[in-house]
Amino acid sequence: MSRMDGKVALITGAASGLGAASALRFAQEGAVLAGFDLNEAEGGDWATATALAKDSLFEAGDVRDADAIAAFVARVREHFGRIDVLVNSAGVGAGGYVHLLEPEEWDRVIDINLKGTFLFCRAVLPAMIEQKSGSIINLASVEGVEGMELTSAYNASKGGVVLLTKNMAIDYARQGIRVNCICPGFIDTPLLQDVFGNPEMKVIQDKVKDAHMLGRLGKPVEIANAALFLACEESSFVTGHSLVVDGGFTAGHRFGIGKMLGFE
Ligand SMILES: NC(=O)c1ccc[n+]([C@@H]2O[C@H](COP(=O)([O-])OP(=O)(O)OC[C@H]3O[C@@H](n4cnc5c(N)ncnc54)[C@H](O)[C@@H]3O)[C@@H](O)[C@H]2O)c1
Repeated sequence: MSRMDGKVALITGAASGLGAASALRFAQEGAVLAGFDLNEAEGGDWATATALAKDSLFEAGDVRDADAIAAFVARVREHFGRIDVLVNSAGVGAGGYVHLLEPEEWDRVIDINLKGTFLFCRAVLPAMIEQKSGSIINLASVEGVEGMELTSAYNASKGGVVLLTKNMAIDYARQGIRVNCICPGFIDTPLLQDVFGNPEMKVIQDKVKDAHMLGRLGKPVEIANAALFLACEESSFVTGHSLVVDGGFTAGHRFGIGKMLGFE
């Protein structure tokens, strides 16, 4: 028996990066899939996942659109009869100096990353309450637990996701619903490639890699494996947790003394 046999997993941001990688990992463990994303999924992990899964649905839509979310969740419930796992992975990276940040840009980031997570939880919770079971996994970030240069709106949104996760874990535990978030370090996905695509950013990317104690960026599957753990029964006593998966990015500081001593 596989770890997610017959479980219904709804994943936002399913067309790319960490959402698609989670879909693939879940499908490999027997889950059926419902994907939601602004963009149609073309190839990649989502296509491989749906080829593997016994059944799947996909809908193009915006996580800021409460009506579209309600309609999709109703469609998923009608088709599969239940929703066991919700992964909120849709998100955008943005920010800047606060004194230069347009209020519209602030709203866009908060609305997608934080309000979108709230809206999907809100829509899926009635099914999970009825079932008296469910696992919700929100994609937060290391930037939701500590500050970062020039990413004000993003960090505020992810800090909000971390606390929303804890609050929901408290409010729904007695209904059999677990709520956790993952705080990834820098993972090599299209979101990150957008930031580092510019050759001028090479020197920054090297510094970012170095700030991970393991000396590299993370791989999408390394986050998908954490999502799989939180989705399945192996994590049955884990709720309200922010699981940092960051190659040591938040472990502390490293000044190169080991290198000076010839240890590295
Ligand atoms: N990649 C990283 O280094 C990293 C690190 C920490 C946290 N995260 C978080 O993980 C999540 C996934 O990031 P990723 O790296 O896979 O990014 P990605 O850009 O590869 O995928 C994000 C997906 O979200 C979708 N999306 C964006 N806005 C949407 C909207 N309004 N409605 C519906 N879908 C929308 C995009 O179309 C895309 O398919 C995000 O929440 C991100 O903040 C990523």
